[in-house]
Amino acid sequence: VIVVSGASGHIGGEVLRQLCALGHPVRALSRDPSKLSVPAGATAAKADLQDADSTRTALDGASKLFFVIDAPQLPKAAANVAPLAAAAGVKHIVMVSSGTVLFQPEPVIGRWHREAEETVKASGVAWTFLRPGNFASNSLRWAGSIRAQGSVFGVLAGPSTPIHEHDIADVAVKALTTPGHENVAHRLTGPERMTAADQVAAIGAAIGRELRFVPVPREGALAGMIKGGMPEAIARAVLELQREGHGDEVTSAVRDIAGHPGRTYASWARENAARFG
Ligand SMILES: NC(=O)c1ccc[n+]([C@@H]2O[C@H](COP(=O)([O-])OP(=O)(O)OC[C@H]3O[C@@H](n4cnc5c(N)ncnc54)[C@H](OP(=O)(O)O)[C@@H]3O)[C@@H](O)[C@H]2O)c1
Repeated sequence: VIVVSGASGHIGGEVLRQLCALGHPVRALSRDPSKLSVPAGATAAKADLQDADSTRTALDGASKLFFVIDAPQLPKAAANVAPLAAAAGVKHIVMVSSGTVLFQPEPVIGRWHREAEETVKASGVAWTFLRPGNFASNSLRWAGSIRAQGSVFGVLAGPSTPIHEHDIADVAVKALTTPGHENVAHRLTGPERMTAADQVAAIGAAIGRELRFVPVPREGALAGMIKGGMPEAIARAVLELQREGHGDEVTSAVRDIAGHPGRTYASWARENAARFG
């Protein structure tokens, strides 16, 4: 059975759907399985990946594991999950890591993901690390100010390569179900470089409304993120990645592995227009 963590989330939910459609037996994990919509062919199990007992039960009889969790929890969760996966006889862990592991100097978010990668490697289980950059879904954070003010307030930063979460899921499913991905890290990006202002314009086009990107000083952006409910340490870590002159390069990994071009941010914005309109 393939165990899918984060099954209630953006990537894990799509990995679950695709594996079931391909006919693989799947166990979908959540801390609250009642909120999962579980397709035919899958079972749901309750697991907290920071908790040894529920993780051990969740991994019983597993052949492979798709591993994703909120980034700040990743080092501790990996220290719990990796040795238990090895003990359970799991043959392959496909983990959502981050392109930030390659950044120098190492940002806080890069450290969380690097530590988790090292722990998974040390378990002796074959691994695949997916290292995406900025998720398209991060812009859901802008929904409130777009609806209320037609504006997004953010710091001026270099372009990123926003990636559709379903492209990450497509690559994860290939890594879980086809050979050749063992002990390899894949640097994943969207198909184009965009600034935050470009992204805001794409959302505006999707909802048929002119939107503004309003640059604000870093302290103002930090205060806004904390006011929006983000813990301060995490807000600082997120802001650390938003720098002028710092930008990702587009890679061909999604096309090479998934067999189709990366989905554009404009397509993501059209699919999610109802969240902003
Ligand atoms: N955002 C970015 O730009 C970016 C860039 C590079 C890499 N990443 C990586 O991608 C991850 C996010 O992926 P995503 O968007 O698919 O996630 P998501 O939609 O935010 O979902 C996170 C999942 O983690 C699960 N989870 C949280 N705490 C858990 C725990 N203690 N035990 C078990 N499950 C737990 C949640 O499940 P339940 O609540 O159902 O338990 C949820 O399904 C980040 O954490 C980071 O590592 C993100």
